[in-house]
Amino acid sequence: MSAAGTASASGLRIGVPCETKDRERRVALTPAAVHAMSTAGHQVLVQAGAGLGAGFADAEFAAAGAQLLADAEQVWAADLVVKVKEPQPAEYGFFRPGLTLFAYLHLAAEPELTAALAASGIRAYAFETLTDRNGLPLLAPMSEIAGRAAAIVGAAQLSTAAGGSGTLMGGAAGVPPAKVVVIGLGVAGTMAARGLRGLGAHVTGVDVDLHRLYEHHLDGTVDATQSSEAALIGGHVRDADLVIGAALVPGARAPVVVSEEQVASMRPGSVVVDLAIDQGGCVATARPTSLSDPTYLEHGVVHYCVTNVPGQFPRTASAALSAAVAPKLALLAADVVAGRAGTPHEHPALVGARNVDAGVIVHDAVAEVFPDLPAQPAPVPA
Ligand SMILES: NC(=O)c1ccc[n+]([C@@H]2O[C@H](COP(=O)([O-])OP(=O)(O)OC[C@H]3O[C@@H](n4cnc5c(N)ncnc54)[C@H](O)[C@@H]3O)[C@@H](O)[C@H]2O)c1
Repeated sequence: MSAAGTASASGLRIGVPCETKDRERRVALTPAAVHAMSTAGHQVLVQAGAGLGAGFADAEFAAAGAQLLADAEQVWAADLVVKVKEPQPAEYGFFRPGLTLFAYLHLAAEPELTAALAASGIRAYAFETLTDRNGLPLLAPMSEIAGRAAAIVGAAQLSTAAGGSGTLMGGAAGVPPAKVVVIGLGVAGTMAARGLRGLGAHVTGVDVDLHRLYEHHLDGTVDATQSSEAALIGGHVRDADLVIGAALVPGARAPVVVSEEQVASMRPGSVVVDLAIDQGGCVATARPTSLSDPTYLEHGVVHYCVTNVPGQFPRTASAALSAAVAPKLALLAADVVAGRAGTPHEHPALVGARNVDAGVIVHDAVAEVFPDLPAQPAPVPA
């Protein structure tokens, strides 16, 4: 038994630890969500200070029914841990059989984390692969924020102060606007395109989904559309001041859509913001960076490849994430209490989320990335 006690027959101990990734200030649950979980009969254990970066004081969590605990170890002793970013190496030691984890995992780009999860016997559910009829409901809120942020960041990186070419998005009278190429017009790409058009840029949207391009062509999200064909993208990239990467195949490593040669053809001081870096990146020259050290130069092109872009807007991002996560968490907790989690009777609203279970990779797209780890096809939901 942990210091925090054990689960009751109808409720779980749900842990909310402090985030440990570089400059990550989000918290997985707001006090409003803690209140909902407590009211449903669960005991919510919040690590002291977990909400401070997002503007939520410990006293607000306590008033919402949480028990505040000083140490990460006590919080990870819960039955179910819900957090924002993928566990960092210092947290791997908390994994154990019988623990359920619910968080962003992005395993396709995290071989060490994947191996640690599989070796531990934990049951791990990923926000980003949970699928419903509208798409990816737990990825969408952060993609929305990352897309909006990419417009701000991308425009700022083009200033000479940031090492960019000195090109202003909207141009000026007699001077054409900056050219932007957005790779992948899903949630993140669409929000980036809208923001950049709002700043006056000329935006070309690239996608493999022609219907999506048709819709965005009609609704004016972009100035021009381009099918995602290697031979046709090069000219757009060469002429671009800013390339935003936002292509995703859920669970899988991101498709590499922009080659190194194409990046090398861009003007010095042009900018790449690859949001898809959390799944490995859709620009060949992209490699993960941190909020502390967000950019590097390659072929004279500024690369911004931060894996937790929304972490710098924690107030908005925590509220948006918590609102999306809380209803799914309630279903997952109910399944754990009832012994349905990980069985064919798991709640249908959790489809696609379970990635690793008792030493086995159970998500097909993740399993394909790690052929050397034990895998089984995810069961068909009841
Ligand atoms: N770096 C960050 O902090 C951060 C934050 C949030 C989201 N993201 C990432 O942004 C990426 C996009 O997320 P999303 O929610 O917008 O996904 P989404 O599923 O809404 O959209 C992805 C789009 O990519 C398109 N696509 C797939 N293959 C393609 C290809 N070969 N060429 C061009 N387009 C292709 C799809 O058709 C789809 O329109 C994901 O990797 C996500 O994890 C990153």
